[in-house]
Amino acid sequence: MSARPDLNLDSDSGDWKDAKNKLSSMDKEARRKMYRIDFIPLENVPVWRSTGDSSCKPLYKANEELNMKISLFRGDITKLEIDAIANAANKTLLGGGGVDGAIHRGAGPLLRKECATLNGCETGEAKITGAYGLPANYVIHTVGPIVHGSVGEKDKEALRNCYYNCLQTATKNHLRTVAFPCISTGVYGYPPDQAVEVALKTVREYLEENHEKLDRVIFCVFLKSDKELYETRLPAYFSQGSPPKSKL
Ligand code: APR
Repeated sequence: MSARPDLNLDSDSGDWKDAKNKLSSMDKEARRKMYRIDFIPLENVPVWRSTGDSSCKPLYKANEELNMKISLFRGDITKLEIDAIANAANKTLLGGGGVDGAIHRGAGPLLRKECATLNGCETGEAKITGAYGLPANYVIHTVGPIVHGSVGEKDKEALRNCYYNCLQTATKNHLRTVAFPCISTGVYGYPPDQAVEVALKTVREYLEENHEKLDRVIFCVFLKSDKELYETRLPAYFSQGSPPKSKL
């Protein structure tokens, strides 16, 4: 139930622009009364620290400033109380299953109304909307490549563009905390062990150039297998340097 009689996020009869303006003018306390689902504040999402037993070769120099901007979180992306969550959408932007379905269910019907004004989204592109009943302030919708059989260069480029364009859209809108699901690795069939390399490389290289514009990038995994994959590969892209030599 919405907490304000002039703002009902459960019904699609309202004006999405009016709702979006009202929500953006609220302070956090008032905004929290409008969430349609429970939320996880950013302080409950720890910065990623390597478990230390990874033997993978670092692909980039250790950079503690960048490492402090990365989180690996296993759970429901719709609950994250941050500036923006990325949505693995389809070209219509009118909702679907998987994480797209969860985001639309949590946001409520006004999200679809705003999406319907965007004329869809091409693969690799990113479009931003309000988040309505979600704890996030914005949703950045992107459309990943659909992979049939093996991954081609075009698929790789398209997936890279998804991550890059979501980050670019976030920083252009002065958003500083962003979460990504494992784009394209569900219904769209991108092999997760290849998608993780594209995701981590794109985020690392974007942060190298734009570190002052972002405070946190959260890799939000849903499946245990993806958590293990990211734990194994994160040290290659966000190396934490060699452990201090024992003085003894
Ligand atoms: N929070 C975080 N991650 C989630 C959630 C959630 N609530 N629900 C699912 N996921 C994970 C899946 O486990 C998978 O790892 O999101 C990842 C992406 O899977 P999909 O949602 O299937 O997205 P994708 O593979 O990009 O396919 C997009 O599926 O839902 C439709 O409308 C969508 O047509 C589009 C297609």
